[in-house]
Amino acid sequence: QVQTDLAQTVQPGWLRRWETSSRHLTLGHLVGMGMFGHVIRAKLKTSTGEIITIAAKAVRRKDTQCYRNFYKEAAILVAVHEDEQHDNLRSNIIQLLGLVNEASQKYILMEYASNGNLLSLLRQTRRQNGAAASLPHHLRYAIHVARALQELQHLAITHCDVAARNVLITADDVAKLADFGLARDVYATVQHVTDDAHRREQRARRDNPAAEDEVYILPLNWMSPESLETGEYTCQSDVWSFGVLLWEIAAQGREPHYDGNNNLSCFQLSRTLRTGIRLRRPPECSGDIYDVMSSCWQERPPERPDPDALEERLQQVQLTMI
Ligand code: ADE
Repeated sequence: QVQTDLAQTVQPGWLRRWETSSRHLTLGHLVGMGMFGHVIRAKLKTSTGEIITIAAKAVRRKDTQCYRNFYKEAAILVAVHEDEQHDNLRSNIIQLLGLVNEASQKYILMEYASNGNLLSLLRQTRRQNGAAASLPHHLRYAIHVARALQELQHLAITHCDVAARNVLITADDVAKLADFGLARDVYATVQHVTDDAHRREQRARRDNPAAEDEVYILPLNWMSPESLETGEYTCQSDVWSFGVLLWEIAAQGREPHYDGNNNLSCFQLSRTLRTGIRLRRPPECSGDIYDVMSSCWQERPPERPDPDALEERLQQVQLTMI
């Protein structure tokens, strides 16, 4: 079924081409927890006999939904990596290293990003510096994510969860888009997001002791009005979320919410957005950065900038900051 969903994206035999044995894997400790999977630091013995540190993503529970998501994420990452224009050294998408697909052990193996996720990094610098001195540096990460969106647009894949928590920073200070658990190709059937589904996720989070020290933020506030209303995701709705990611950068990892209200339901939020209300300009944020994020929040999707235009505009803004 996964293969029919992704028929437009992925070549047959994709699992076999990336499969590796769990014998080459030594698991370490937990480094991240997501909706459907958790990520463990691990050592991998490569085909050349080298031992490298990697991240292994496993299903969170052994149920159909988690497995389905696991294969979907794996297939999307394979599609990205098998594209002829893909270049691991230049890509801003987390690098896939292999797949373990055994009856009792299933892992997506990927590069280990030793500087953690962008949201933690933003919050850490806020605690340390107070001021927005590191904004030009953090804007570099936004440019990296814009490049990741260019790559996805080329493949007609939507990420559906572009947010600072899903951007990882590598040892050489490059931002990489990760967590393709909700991604899909634009031809796949749409799935409607209901308030109910979000409440279930929130409860699942609360009941999971391993997620205790992680603040779970509802993705609603990253979503475009059309995604909230119809579950429709396009490259333009990823651009809307990118605007919220820019807001997170400018606000140094604060939580995005509308008019001080973080508890708007899906329905209330879409009504708020349709009225023209948007996230406010954070105090540290310059007018030209706010203009870029505001352009991502155009109500009509075709009026939002495409990822190429975003990179260009952010580069111009960066020049004025030096
Ligand atoms: N947390 C989630 N994915 C990760 C990765 N690839 N590297 C480091 N930390 C992570």
